[in-house]
Formats: sequence, structure tokens, C-alpha cells
Amino acid sequence: PRPRVWLARPLFEDITGRLDQHFEVVRSAVEDRYASDEIAARLRDVDGALVTLVERIGAAEIAGAARLRAVANVGVGHDNLDIAALGAAGVLVTNTPDVLTDTTADFGFALLMAAARRLGEAERWLRAGHWGRWSFDTLLGADLHGSTLGILGMGRIGQGIARRGAGFGMPVLYHNRHRLPQSVERGCRAQYVTFEALLQRSDHLVLTLPHSPATHHLIDAAALARMKPAATLVNIARGGIVDETALVAALAGGRLGAAGLDVYEGEPAVRPELLALDNVVLTPHIASASLATRRAMVALAVDNLVAALGRGPDAGRPPTPVDPDALKR
Ligand code: GLV
Ligand code: GLV
Repeated sequence: PRPRVWLARPLFEDITGRLDQHFEVVRSAVEDRYASDEIAARLRDVDGALVTLVERIGAAEIAGAARLRAVANVGVGHDNLDIAALGAAGVLVTNTPDVLTDTTADFGFALLMAAARRLGEAERWLRAGHWGRWSFDTLLGADLHGSTLGILGMGRIGQGIARRGAGFGMPVLYHNRHRLPQSVERGCRAQYVTFEALLQRSDHLVLTLPHSPATHHLIDAAALARMKPAATLVNIARGGIVDETALVAALAGGRLGAAGLDVYEGEPAVRPELLALDNVVLTPHIASASLATRRAMVALAVDNLVAALGRGPDAGRPPTPVDPDALKR
């Protein structure tokens, strides 16, 4: 019999339709979020699943999933998946790096520019009919050019931000768990500094690191207190990296200039205190959302699932496993 796979939500039918060539596909029409037991029920009798960042899968969800061998995540971040629990159960996990790097870096830069130059606030002000009150010092913002760009997390997306910053005439600093080879540093004209120095010296700080227990609330009250009072903070990584209570306090108290957020601790809920602040630009987790890139992400996830379940030209060799060593086991 053909393997069965669960397609967690409708995604570009012309692309996910390829799954039907290899599998019996169980489709869900759901656009809402699944409860844990709903996910467990759907995983119980399938060999693979294609999911997005809102499907959370860990030990509880796979407890009854004896056949499950592969989970293909549409997204580069995978804090929705308990990689250790899935790995221990012999489930191969794949994600979608690379195809979204430049689109996501473009958006990170857009959010940085919008926050620093007060784009959202300016637009709200114009639409509210305030232009008649315009004066020479209306909506003064912070410059990007000539100011220092800091990047926390220097993976592919962080390097994309760095290249854009260099193009804007910004000195670029970064911090990462591991320092990058000098050839890579030179390529994106970025200088390695300690976490402490990054906080203190950045005029604009962009977060592009994975969320894990080790990075949870890395940007807390103490970290925010070390940043420049006029600095901009941009988060295109995961909400849990920033302590939002501390962020709200810093933004409201004039201890941080502005923020641009694409991700939140309680997505899709956004805390009312953030909604009430003028010096924060808020977007609904769309950094990779260009049409071409979202299609490329789904296509890569399909390729991963097909190969992980031993079908197609790359059978047994999915292009982008989260843990390449898992393939050897
Ligand atoms: C989206 O947030 C992703 O990780 O791809
Ligand atoms: C993460 O994989 C990144 O590309 O930054």
C-alpha cells in the first residue's frame, strides 16, 4: 500500500498535489489551530506529515503515532517541533532553509526602516487627518546610514541582513554562538563582538537567531537596559526570544527608541500594551511571505517529505533535514 501522509492545511494545491503521485494524502480543510489531541488523532495512522509553524508536535502528539517516520515543516524555524522527542521516536524532521533567506532579510530590513523612520506612525497620522499640523520637526526618526547595525544570530538570514546593512553604509557588528570564518565575515563586512558589546554599541539591533530553551528571553529587562536609549530593536526570529513585558516597559518608558516586531510570544495574540504603543511597528509573522518564496517553501517541504518516505528521485535523501546526522542512523 502507498504510504499515508497528513497535509495539515491547504497549501498551494498545484504544488502539494504532487504528494498524490506518491502517497494517499489525508487533507485537512482547517484554517484554525489544532488542539494537541486533534494533532495526535491525525498523526495516529500516517507515515508522514507536512505541517506549518502553528502545528506543535512533541512527545504527547506522537505517543500513538506508531507509523510516523517523517515530519516536513514549512519554515526554517522549528521551535513548534520537539526535535529530541521526534528523533528519539525515529521520526525524521525537515525544514525549509535557504529558499527564504533573502525574502526574510528583505523584510527584516523593511521592518527596521519602518521602525527607525516611524513609517507606521506617520501613515496613521496622515490617515487621521493631522497633516494640517505638520511642522519641521514632525515625526523625526533615526538614521540608518552611518549608524551601527547589530545582528544577533549570524545564520543565513543574519548574513543577509548584514549585506543589506553594508549596502546602506552601516558599520555591522554581530554576535553568534560561534564566530564565523573570516572569509564569511569579510563577505558580509561584519565584525564579531561579544553579546554585551553588541547590546551596548548597536544603534539598531536585529534578531535572527533560533528560539530554544537557551535563547528564551535572551532579550530581557537586563539586556534592554544595556542598549542605547534611542536604539531600534527588530525581531524577525521568534517571539519567545524577547521578554515582551520588559520590551513594553522599555518602549513606554523611553528606554528604547523603537521596535519592529514580526513575531510574538503568544501568536496570534498580540498584547494590548504593544497595540497601544506608537513606537512599535507590528506585522503578523510575514517575513518570508512573498508569493514566490512561500511557494518555494512548500515545494521544498514536499520534496523533503517525498524523499524522506523513500519516494521520488531523492529517495532516502531529503534535501534539508534539520539534523543531517539523523539520516545516517
Ligand atoms: C518562519 O517563521 C520560518 O521559520 O520559516
Ligand atoms: C536560519 O537557518 C537562518 O538561515 O538564519
